[in-house]
Amino acid sequence: MTEPEPPAVATLSLAETATESVKQATEQEINPWDVQAATDDQGNVLEFDYEAISQKWATKLIDDALLERFERVTGHKPHRWLRRGLFFSHRDVELILDTYERGEDFLLYTGRGPSSDSMHIGHTIPFEFTKWLQDVFDVPLVIMLTDDEKFLFKEKLKQPEVYQYARGNAMDIISIGFDVKKTFIYIDSEFFTSGYNRHFNLNSTEFEKLVTNNQVRGAFGFHGSTNIGSNAFAAKQCVAAFASSYPFIFGEDYKTYHRSAKLAAIPCLIPCAIDQDPYFRLVRENCSRMDQSSPKPALIHSKFLTALQGAGGKMSSSNPNSAVFMDDTEKQVKNKINKHAFSGGQETMELHREKGGNPDIDVPFQYLSYFEEDDEKLKKFAADYRKGEMGTGDMKKECITMMNTYVKKFQEARAKVTDEMLEEFLRPRKLEWKGNPNPTRPKLEPKEETEPAGAEVGSDGKPMTKNAAKKAAKLAELEKKKREKAAAAAQK
Ligand code: TRP
Repeated sequence: MTEPEPPAVATLSLAETATESVKQATEQEINPWDVQAATDDQGNVLEFDYEAISQKWATKLIDDALLERFERVTGHKPHRWLRRGLFFSHRDVELILDTYERGEDFLLYTGRGPSSDSMHIGHTIPFEFTKWLQDVFDVPLVIMLTDDEKFLFKEKLKQPEVYQYARGNAMDIISIGFDVKKTFIYIDSEFFTSGYNRHFNLNSTEFEKLVTNNQVRGAFGFHGSTNIGSNAFAAKQCVAAFASSYPFIFGEDYKTYHRSAKLAAIPCLIPCAIDQDPYFRLVRENCSRMDQSSPKPALIHSKFLTALQGAGGKMSSSNPNSAVFMDDTEKQVKNKINKHAFSGGQETMELHREKGGNPDIDVPFQYLSYFEEDDEKLKKFAADYRKGEMGTGDMKKECITMMNTYVKKFQEARAKVTDEMLEEFLRPRKLEWKGNPNPTRPKLEPKEETEPAGAEVGSDGKPMTKNAAKKAAKLAELEKKKREKAAAAAQK
């Protein structure tokens, strides 16, 4: 079942430079730590080429056939972000739909690197989408806040500071409306020292052993002077996709040394931005090599959200004018969109009426397309804009109203999130979910029951067959009786 998956890092290639005065065209760069759009030889920033990255990394584009099946299987109209291609690519989502049809569980997993206090719409949208998936499938969800990752990768950050960001971000994420009964949020530095992380740790140590320096270097562009924590971190983000890392979620013993093969076999679906794919290729390549093998996690990839400055720009926490932030006031939102949102309209009113505008590059229209549910209304905006009947001011006004409604709703929810609520989401515990109420396919034959703790692994360290394990258990029982007898005799 190995699939040929090409090198992970989209390489930066510089155009031939004949003279110094010629600007160098650059290719797009997409990896988990650096996302840059391509530039032309004039130095202009170009749009991301998502089909190219999908092809390069051998992902599948989400097509109508998949969306139709999604609707048939779940009974839900695909989310507008699926219909409109914001989530554009995937791996093995069909298998997740198969799992759901059989009424079997799967784990939803997503995360965020808490590198700042303030979240903007580029941060909240992936979580909104994850919440929608959770509502549609009714499955358990884990959200990993990688304060360790950000500490390791960002030179300037200190541990206490990143930890605080993680707590603040967790409260923001809670505001999106996740159901606490079905959701476990964890901050790495906290969970990894909690005692609930034994199986997570065993999984990551085993995974670290499977992956060589050469593999992570290939996948992430690490080199000899990269700190060793970065190498090891990759394993953590990977094994976070194994349900066996969280036995307590499933009501299983988290203290025993033995991980559950039954949990390891539970599939996982990861919604994430496309730049995170290198991590998950690594887990897909190696998961079947784990002693308790896990299926390859499925993925749904999103594009990057357009910055206010337009295509190729980046929403950045350090640039308040690059994005709408979740703590912006109504007035700030209005000013940002009026002053900083790139317009696809014409210079003057007259020209705009005559020639019409281009909604495809118009940021206010792009933002409307993220939030306006009504496909027909959106189509009409685009058509009217093209004809010059709708002006740039009108488009901005619509966008401002929409964005302010979204931000206000978020802020109202955020104001209600208390420290107690945060602690409850962060507490390792059994989750409750129902999954598919009407399975339409027979369940797969259940795997062999796992043996009682202590009897699964032979003296050679290899898993035993069911019979060998039974024999060993019987022997152990006999030994125990013998010892008890001897002890009783000695007491006499
Ligand atoms: N590495 C991600 C970031 O820097 C955080 C993350 C951890 C994540 N696990 C994930 C993102 C799973 C998406 C899915 O933001």
